Amino acid sequence: MAKVLIKNIKGLFQAGNELPKYKKGSQMDDGDLIENAFLALEDDEIIAFGKMEDWGGITDWRDLEVIDAEGKYVLPTFCDSHTHAVFAATREEEFEDRIKGLSYEEIALKGGGILNSAGRLQEMDEDTLFEEALERIHGLAEYGTGAIEIKSGYGLSVEGELKMLRVIKRLKAASPMAIKATFLGAHAFPKEYKENHEGYMKLMIDEMLPKIAEEGLADYIDCFCERNYFTVAQMTRLLKEGAKYNLVPKVHVNQFSIMGGIQAAVEHGALSVDHLEELNEDDIKALKGSDTMPTFLPGCSFFLSIPYGKARQVICADLPLALASDFNPGSAPSGNMQLLTSVACAKMNMTPFETLNATTLNTAYAMGISDTHGSITVGKKANIMITKQISSLARIPYSFGENNIETVILNGEIFHS
Ligand code: NIG
Ligand code: FE
Repeated sequence: MAKVLIKNIKGLFQAGNELPKYKKGSQMDDGDLIENAFLALEDDEIIAFGKMEDWGGITDWRDLEVIDAEGKYVLPTFCDSHTHAVFAATREEEFEDRIKGLSYEEIALKGGGILNSAGRLQEMDEDTLFEEALERIHGLAEYGTGAIEIKSGYGLSVEGELKMLRVIKRLKAASPMAIKATFLGAHAFPKEYKENHEGYMKLMIDEMLPKIAEEGLADYIDCFCERNYFTVAQMTRLLKEGAKYNLVPKVHVNQFSIMGGIQAAVEHGALSVDHLEELNEDDIKALKGSDTMPTFLPGCSFFLSIPYGKARQVICADLPLALASDFNPGSAPSGNMQLLTSVACAKMNMTPFETLNATTLNTAYAMGISDTHGSITVGKKANIMITKQISSLARIPYSFGENNIETVILNGEIFHS
């Protein structure tokens, strides 16, 4: 499909050639919506868009695919800036344990949780991991996800972490989705290092990081900064080591407790700080004036019954905000970004436009791809989605659990229809 013209679009969302790199504060509620619009794609790029009345008509029909989008909306595909989409097994048994009263933290302290996933991953060969992950992320693309960040962190050994990151590298080559890889060796202390945290820190610093850099396996570095996991000092040390290999931080902070992780991450130039179910005024102050994207993961709040991020407080402070799925087998077993917008509207009092900005342009920024993804802008990648015939864009968060996306185009090719 070399050239595509989408015409009679009911509304073209997030469309503009002069959009900010991310939206913040009151900008978040601006959809930059063009009603009754057209969009033209050539090869893998967006080449033109505007009002139908400004469209010049077709002069050259050769190789041109025309899509009539009467009654439908067109948006940039979702960017999911925080996932753990490579894993070996689901964890329904822990879900049932939680229903019976155990907490996520209690399950983890018994050796479940991340360590459970690490054990399962160790048993699975690289090819199977790759095939299952590819099918899994392509399933998400049918719901409109066109770009995805994927973390390691279920390896927790040199071989395990390299295996996961090699799988992500293969996914990058095999999928039309834009993919970024994050090294999350500091996800939990493995069993063998329970009493020897310094030993595991050294293993990550002296053995994992150099090999990862040598093979070019990671774009970012992450750390689960939390009580019973990694301290702020350990995270800081690791981020400094990562910087030697040009790995930019994107970190897990403030999921259960406030420890000063946000301040430390901002100081070390984090691209995003993620979770933030717990957030105080000092955290907000630290984020002000920084280039760090606060990222909420409402799927995790929903599934673990922990507090939702204080989205209104962040937006009222004139900060930007991103929403990602955290897709993983323990705390958020869904990567459905449409569902995420529903949860954010219903539980975090975000408006539909705010959630759609937070899952496109702002998540593109949070995964370092806002130059090429996240909006309808001439020269950006032709990664777009067309809705079904719907009454308004608010229908996406409104009809929770439904797939309102009919067609997904990735790099100018129809991926799903
Ligand atoms: O972001 N909080 C740490 N890591 C994941 C959960 C991983 C798991 O439970 O397997 C998260 O929620
Ligand atoms: Fe996570």
